[in-house]
Amino acid sequence: MDYEAFCNDYPDYQNTAAMFDSVRSSEYAQLDKANHVYLDYTGGNLYAKSQIQKHVSLLENNVFGNPHSTNPTSIVSTMYVESTRKTVLDFFNASDDYFCVFTANATQALKIVGESYPFDHRSYFLLLFDNHNSVNGIREYAKRKGADFEYCPVYLEDLRIDEIKLNKKLSAAKYKHNKLFAFPAQSNVSGVKHDLKWIETAHEHGWDVLLDAAAFVPTNTLDLQQVKPDYVSISFYKIFGYPTGVGALLIKKALSKNWISHGLQVVLFRMLP
Ligand SMILES: Cc1ncc(COP(=O)(O)O)c(C=O)c1O
Repeated sequence: MDYEAFCNDYPDYQNTAAMFDSVRSSEYAQLDKANHVYLDYTGGNLYAKSQIQKHVSLLENNVFGNPHSTNPTSIVSTMYVESTRKTVLDFFNASDDYFCVFTANATQALKIVGESYPFDHRSYFLLLFDNHNSVNGIREYAKRKGADFEYCPVYLEDLRIDEIKLNKKLSAAKYKHNKLFAFPAQSNVSGVKHDLKWIETAHEHGWDVLLDAAAFVPTNTLDLQQVKPDYVSISFYKIFGYPTGVGALLIKKALSKNWISHGLQVVLFRMLP
């Protein structure tokens, strides 16, 4: 389709073109310099020029020491970490209900859940078929501690959840305890956005829920007053491109069974102020 035909088919495009063109040339000039069309706003977002400039200026005008100390440079670092933590929690409308543990990426957030969730021979790990491989990896932690695990299929036609099977699996493991259900808010395999109602349904059947929101939050709102998963994994470069190497695990303070496992306590002790 040529440009003229495209504008005929999508007349509203003309109303936004000037704004997009100006943002593209002022903030993302590297695209035209390198002659790129960039569409991956799920896997890794682009950084804007003003972001980089602001960060350079921050580094040039401050001295950041190691946090967890009381010298002036450490205090500045701690202040920035804490205000960032608050901004993240506010962004997801988490209020006072969640901890925010910074991680290297979503994979590390998921690994912390795998390492610290109190799996044992009476517990169960249920996953959707289209989880990211980093969620699949939690299966090995569950297995090592004697827990059972199972995958719930998606329909081959539209790659959406097989609702009958999922309802059955969620209500079947009645006599298990420490049951963890993990699913992606948006699948990186298919791009499908799953209905977040499954969080509440799983809770009603006594499951804890791990919501992998890494691919979802770059282009969707996650409101943690509307839905209340027990763990949420996030990766910031997927949202705003820079810096890489920062993600987060959001942990509901009142976990559905009113416990925080020993492993998780160790993590929180190490990572929170
Ligand atoms: C749904 C989902 N979960 C987890 C990850 C892993 O993210 P990270 O690269 O931050 O470890 C990705 C990465 O593409 C993803 O799309």
